[in-house]
Amino acid sequence: MTTKIKPQQNTMFKKEVTEGLTSFPKYLSSKYFYDKKGDKLFQDIMDMPSYYLTGCEFEIILNNTSVIGELIRDRKNGLDLIELGAGDGKKTKVLLKYMDENDFNFVYKPIDISENAVELLSNNLAQEMPTLNVDAEVGEYFEVLERLKGFNKRKKVIMVLGSNIGNLPHPKAIDFLTKLKDTMLPDDLLFMGFDQKKNPQTILEAYNDESGITEAFNKNILTRINREFDGNFEIENFKHWEVYDPETGTAKSFLVATKEMKVTIEKLQLKLNFDQWETIHTEISQKYDDKIVSWLAEEAGLEIETFFADDKGYYKNYVFRKA
Ligand code: AVJ
Repeated sequence: MTTKIKPQQNTMFKKEVTEGLTSFPKYLSSKYFYDKKGDKLFQDIMDMPSYYLTGCEFEIILNNTSVIGELIRDRKNGLDLIELGAGDGKKTKVLLKYMDENDFNFVYKPIDISENAVELLSNNLAQEMPTLNVDAEVGEYFEVLERLKGFNKRKKVIMVLGSNIGNLPHPKAIDFLTKLKDTMLPDDLLFMGFDQKKNPQTILEAYNDESGITEAFNKNILTRINREFDGNFEIENFKHWEVYDPETGTAKSFLVATKEMKVTIEKLQLKLNFDQWETIHTEISQKYDDKIVSWLAEEAGLEIETFFADDKGYYKNYVFRKA
């Protein structure tokens, strides 16, 4: 088991924070939510009943384990199972267990932007499934795409769970899917989760909990900037604000300055001004329907082989092949 750490990540973080906070309107990328504290907060989010996504996807994988397993199996040469954004692997473990017990010959390669998550998952799998062949890696999606091309000796299955693609606006999602397609051979599969459009109230509540967990998660990006770059954001003077547009299917998260503020970020040599009610846009969580997913697939040169849904139809996992 290996854990490789990418040193250029900190440079990227610096560059993107500087870019986003000196833009108008200001923005930050949600991929930077995930440090040790952010991972923990996201775990807490996944445990909230209002954050239905995790439970729905867990149900899908649990109710279709053998069907999914047999769909991805290659009896002759085995396969490489590559998971982007593996996180704590809770949902994937159901499938891994099935594969481990039914002699699939495979390597599981979890990749995550959070060094902490990759380490926890590696240790956890070594404990729980000691016979599993795991090769974990730290990295972000667009970085690791190139290296995926190296997995061409036998069937490869790429998994992206949790509706993580929802953090990308459609043009970026198409770019991402196209690049995934470019790493795929005809027998390779892409298994991906897409949170579906539904009652807007249900979606809003998933990102707007009373308990303040999502608020703390959203604000963690400022906490991180304060700690890592010597910033002096007054976190309590920002308000978590969530909107959901049922027409576009886009949930958006903001941090809103409740008063005029000056912020210094020493290590970035930045002095910022916030007007009262000025915003920092921090995340989008896109929601989908079959039409949008078909369109994304077509634009990316992919074809939908099949899909799985939960009982309520809140969430779907689609299986794609190169068109
Ligand atoms: C992990 C990106 C899928 O957008 O639903 C949860 C992150 N943000 N609550 C999502 C998140 C606020 C989550 N993803």
